[in-house]
Amino acid sequence: MTNDPQEQLRIEFNQWARAGKGESMEKGHRPVGTQAIERMRVPASARVLDVGCGSGWASRLLAGSAIKGRVTGIDISDEMIRIARESSMSFPHVDFETASAERLPFSDNEFTHAFSMESLYYYRDIPRALAEIHRVLKPGGVFVAVVDLYWENEATHQWIDTLNVPVELLSTDDYRRLFIDAGFTNIRDERLIDPTPIPENYTGSSFKSREDYEEYRRAGSLMISGER
Ligand SMILES: C[S@@+](CC[C@H](N)C(=O)[O-])C[C@H]1O[C@@H](n2cnc3c(N)ncnc32)[C@H](O)[C@@H]1O
Repeated sequence: MTNDPQEQLRIEFNQWARAGKGESMEKGHRPVGTQAIERMRVPASARVLDVGCGSGWASRLLAGSAIKGRVTGIDISDEMIRIARESSMSFPHVDFETASAERLPFSDNEFTHAFSMESLYYYRDIPRALAEIHRVLKPGGVFVAVVDLYWENEATHQWIDTLNVPVELLSTDDYRRLFIDAGFTNIRDERLIDPTPIPENYTGSSFKSREDYEEYRRAGSLMISGER
């Protein structure tokens, strides 16, 4: 067992990748992630960063808009990056790198857009990650992040004890403040609702009961966006 927080995350999410969770997260996150990505209005020439990209499904979705640009996904888990690369062979303008959000291996002003789905609250140093995302965006660049685990969505608090890594439980105001402190402007927050039907017999492992799952879906996912 390592004491290095970044190594803990790498090991944990490598296990998720081996267990096929990269693919199941795509299924779970896509309905809301698609709404957030639509709001980004990514133009054809965009240079997009997907932070904590997992299996890379959002990078490939973003690549459908940035057809004359480029999309780069980064993740701390090398196993997730391996899956993302294997799944993106037919996307010549998409690439992936194993990297920590707190230390992005890119020059200043490299990207026009940045996206992050269900990843921020795992970071051991969120202010530093936000400062890094701000640094690699061009002036006027846009960052859109989505989280399901946040203070106002009480049903998700039960995840804290079941996860093998520590997470940050933050409110909408906490996130807004962090974005401001990192230098972002025009901060907006919005709840995004997954429109897919809830199965009559809930058999998922993320919630104790169907009622909890319904409560989570009613509260929605928190999207926060800001401009560089
Ligand atoms: C819940 S998964 C979401 C993955 C993907 N965005 C999706 O929607 O399917 C969180 C991802 O964040 C990554 N992650 C966690 N901490 C990270 C960090 N400090 N830097 C980069 N990636 C990180 C994990 O490896 C994992 O792939």
